Amino acid sequence: MTTKEKAKTSDWPEKRNPATPLASNKHLLKWVEKMARLTKPARIHWVSGTAEENQALLDQITASGTLTKLNEKLWPGCYYARSDASDVARVEDRTYICSLSKDSAGPTNNWEDPFKMRRKLKSLFNGVMQGRTMYVLAYSMGPVGSPMARIGVQLTDSPYAVANMRIMARIGAPVFAEIDKDTQRVVPCVHTVGMPLGRGKKDVAWPCNKEKYIVHFPETREIWSYGSGYGGNALLGKKCFALRIASNIARDEGWMAEHMLILGVEDPKGEKTYVAAAFPSACGKTNFAMLIPPASFKGWKVWTVGDDIAWIKPDATGNLRAINPEAGFFGVAPGTSNATNPNAMAALAKNSIFTNVALTPEGGVWWEGMTDTPPAECTDWQGNHWTPEIAKQTGAKAAHPNARFTAPASQCPTIDPAWEDPNGVPISAIIFGGRRATTMPLVFQAFNWSTGVYVGATMGSETTAAAAGATGKVRRDPMAMLPFCGYHMADYFRHWLKMQRSLSETPRVFHVNWFRRGPDGKFLWPGYSENMRVLKWIVDRVRGRALGKESPIGWVPRYEDLDWRGLKFTSAQFDELQNFDRSEWRQEVIGHEELFLDLHDHLPPEMIYERELLICRL
Ligand code: GTP
Ligand code: SPV
Ligand code: MN
Repeated sequence: MTTKEKAKTSDWPEKRNPATPLASNKHLLKWVEKMARLTKPARIHWVSGTAEENQALLDQITASGTLTKLNEKLWPGCYYARSDASDVARVEDRTYICSLSKDSAGPTNNWEDPFKMRRKLKSLFNGVMQGRTMYVLAYSMGPVGSPMARIGVQLTDSPYAVANMRIMARIGAPVFAEIDKDTQRVVPCVHTVGMPLGRGKKDVAWPCNKEKYIVHFPETREIWSYGSGYGGNALLGKKCFALRIASNIARDEGWMAEHMLILGVEDPKGEKTYVAAAFPSACGKTNFAMLIPPASFKGWKVWTVGDDIAWIKPDATGNLRAINPEAGFFGVAPGTSNATNPNAMAALAKNSIFTNVALTPEGGVWWEGMTDTPPAECTDWQGNHWTPEIAKQTGAKAAHPNARFTAPASQCPTIDPAWEDPNGVPISAIIFGGRRATTMPLVFQAFNWSTGVYVGATMGSETTAAAAGATGKVRRDPMAMLPFCGYHMADYFRHWLKMQRSLSETPRVFHVNWFRRGPDGKFLWPGYSENMRVLKWIVDRVRGRALGKESPIGWVPRYEDLDWRGLKFTSAQFDELQNFDRSEWRQEVIGHEELFLDLHDHLPPEMIYERELLICRL
């Protein structure tokens, strides 16, 4: 350690040496030591999670150029980051499930032999943290001490990841204390940006590597991430742990780890109904979770429990209860505005981190859709001068389509009073939804649990900017879990079907589509707040208060079954939105069949029977 570094560490406001371990658990200490020997960081920093430490860390990352502090008057406590232009989203083709047998990972995952992958990782991680600090970041997915919470420790050389994880999860000393109780297995996670700082090598604002590996070992419950600093690739508690590893744990233990928002609907009498909804990435979970009912819905209120992930478990009485394992929102910025999602705007107004949005001359942030009139000029997400005129000529976007905000959930005005209840909230309905220009109606209800599982399993959606690759192509995305299910997808369907046996009452299952388009290419449905009309029908169905009629695909509302007060939406418009087109559905079932062909040797028989019944009804 140089004297300069020594001076730096003794500067820590807590007056503790950050290299001093914050836990005494022998396994943990040994593992940290072993990983430090492999990655060879210049120093080790055990993250306490205090506000003072966080501020010192933010100051340091600001000084190094990764973060820009925003105007304190406009955006108190907020920071701005621009990533490398090649590191802007999850990389699904670089994401691996390394189970012992290829068959356990299934055809929808990239598989690699765990022994081969370990050798590869060992060589990639050898000396990879040279010149950098290795942060030891303990985190709890779920409220610390909740019976449903699970703990991970992320070793990372990215202070940006630490600052984001501090918003997204419960971290630091209280979690180390949990680890020292030694009551559960901790999930070890190692993350590096993959850019060692050898002698004399200068750092860059967004270190990363062209080569990327996002690797999961489901049997040993380990995560190794190499080469990226962005979102789900780097904040390992989120998709890597809370979905890919947790889906394995959940299958073994009889619960469910799902890519779902959780919300509570309160009716005018104060009766509350909680639902969970699975929509693929960038298909409206955050917006739906923070929905504000239209003015005509007097006395109705929607409460937010979570916007991305739900851990759902049957309780002693056979009812499903869910927690949001996260503590923050890592939300899509473009399209978020006071008109579309004022709750998100309030949540991100302070103490938030913005990545790949545009920077305004006043030291604020902007993105497409935030305001009707764009700023006269700004710096776009790639650091270029941007004006509305330039945008008109070149099509340049001020913000990357997958630009994100990282905001504390506690700052959301509609955060549910029970959002941190260690036992979770009761779930009465599950909603599936995709982004579909055609075929899928606004809403239908599955006939029963196994039809519902079939509806989720065969879900399709157009690809979005949340993952690297082409956007706008319809792909099968079962339960919105295609990139996140950590084992064989057909075994996952089986697990869903089996859940029924541990339930005294199954939740009702629905499918929605906010994104159907007319012949002119325009959305047929206004969406956002107006989705309340659909949500009310869903709640009323759950409560046995609303009617519907049978259709080949499930129960559908008639025009008069939805509450239209305050919206001009004609019965003809509704018919177009709900239209069931036999030839489109033929194509749809062929799409189901293609997925099933891939999965056939593990496919539960219920899926075949359900498909046959559907074909008969068409
Ligand atoms: P991830 O964080 O990637 O999992 O995404 P998400 O599912 O939370 O999606 P989000 O709510 O951030 O919405 C993504 C995009 O869909 C944004 O551009 C929204 O403006 C848009 N969107 C959300 N709800 C609606 C809706 O009801 N109608 C329409 N037309 N667009 C919507
Ligand atoms: C998603 O892609 O579904 C996200 C963003 O929620 S990320 O955390 O990058 O996975
Ligand atoms: Mn997501």
